[in-house]
Amino acid sequence: MHDFQYANGALHCESVPLEKIAQEVGTPFYCYSQNTLVRHFKVYEEAFKDVNHLICYAVKANSNLAIINELVKAGAGCDIVSGGELFRALKAGCDPKKIVYAGVGKTEEEIEYALKSGILMFNAESSQELFAIDAVAARLGLKAGVALRVNPDVDPKTHPYISTGLKKNKFGISIDGALEEYRLAAQMKNIQLIGVHQHIGSQITQVSPFVDAVERLLAFVEKLKGININIKYIDIGGGLGITYKDESPPLPAELAKEIVPQLKKSGCTIVMEPGRNIVGNAGVLVSRVLYTKKNEGKTFFVVDAGMNDLVRPAMYQAHQGIQPVDHAVADRPKLEADVVGPICESGDFLAKDRILPEFKKGELLAVMSAGAYGFSMASNYNSRRRVAEVLVKGSAYHVVRARETWEDLIRGEKTIG
Ligand SMILES: Cc1ncc(COP(=O)(O)O)c(C=O)c1O
Repeated sequence: MHDFQYANGALHCESVPLEKIAQEVGTPFYCYSQNTLVRHFKVYEEAFKDVNHLICYAVKANSNLAIINELVKAGAGCDIVSGGELFRALKAGCDPKKIVYAGVGKTEEEIEYALKSGILMFNAESSQELFAIDAVAARLGLKAGVALRVNPDVDPKTHPYISTGLKKNKFGISIDGALEEYRLAAQMKNIQLIGVHQHIGSQITQVSPFVDAVERLLAFVEKLKGININIKYIDIGGGLGITYKDESPPLPAELAKEIVPQLKKSGCTIVMEPGRNIVGNAGVLVSRVLYTKKNEGKTFFVVDAGMNDLVRPAMYQAHQGIQPVDHAVADRPKLEADVVGPICESGDFLAKDRILPEFKKGELLAVMSAGAYGFSMASNYNSRRRVAEVLVKGSAYHVVRARETWEDLIRGEKTIG
């Protein structure tokens, strides 16, 4: 469910027509619905209410300050993977005691920043990282809360680039060797072992991989008890998928029904790290058709947004719905076409071989379900300015990130004379 609907023939975000924003802010722009965002978070809260839990929004999905802030106000913590994300989470008002920090390559500078900020826990991904955390904490005279990210070797049945819980992936510590790593960490004076973590992948559309992974994790927690390591937090990661096309992923409540009873028995607080599920369908990318053209009988709608603005189609062959902003366009005859951007790459498309109404030059289209891994993966490739981001709340909209300027493009650069 989301708040992008047609009213009086025009696509709206909540009560604001997207056409109005396009006129006033220009195109392309990302538009997010505050109501959708917060409702999705509350659905999670409700689904897991029978167990002590902490929902840490995965900042990487959409790291705009206003988005993080709306979720923080609703009660969320943050799941971060870099010093930059920590900076954003803190700026957005997140309580450091609700921040968990994953990632295979944390630098000592980042570890120090996180320790000084007083985050809840590091989700450590290797023994060398454990040594690094222990050393930095010792130097600062602090204790680091740590969970080890274990890799349960479960196939999440999603795109290979977003599978993270298989033995062959770079993430986490193999569940078979993890007990040894816990033994090692237990010897470290400045590490406090408080949790266990896993994250098996993204855009997961079935319950079974979660159930399998949770079962393996709980069996592991029992083994930890056997060596006198009693943890407080079980972090089950994020990964629940959304509907882009015709997927029907389980609702958070359906997932909770299958895993909460077992998790509850552990007596631990359950940490979750949803990203896409919260913000994916809360955002669209609005773009204007610059030109239409035919090559060898193939139709192209050339729009003013490209793969630098939304890389998912190029990177994961992902499907993003395309809807006209003016509903009357939908009634036109349909044809097979590609929606392509201005970037000098054949991979620069937002939709390929899609049956679409015949858009005309100057018309607006909305790329649906673009709220997650959209702007946060955007780049300046081809020296394109990153687009504006707009947050709608009811009948008002707010530009929560200004469109970049030409000057922004060269900030920090200089010639050598
Ligand atoms: C450690 C970790 N947690 C949470 C997430 C969020 O995943 P999703 O957006 O699929 O919920 C990711 C995404 O890759 C991740 O790497």
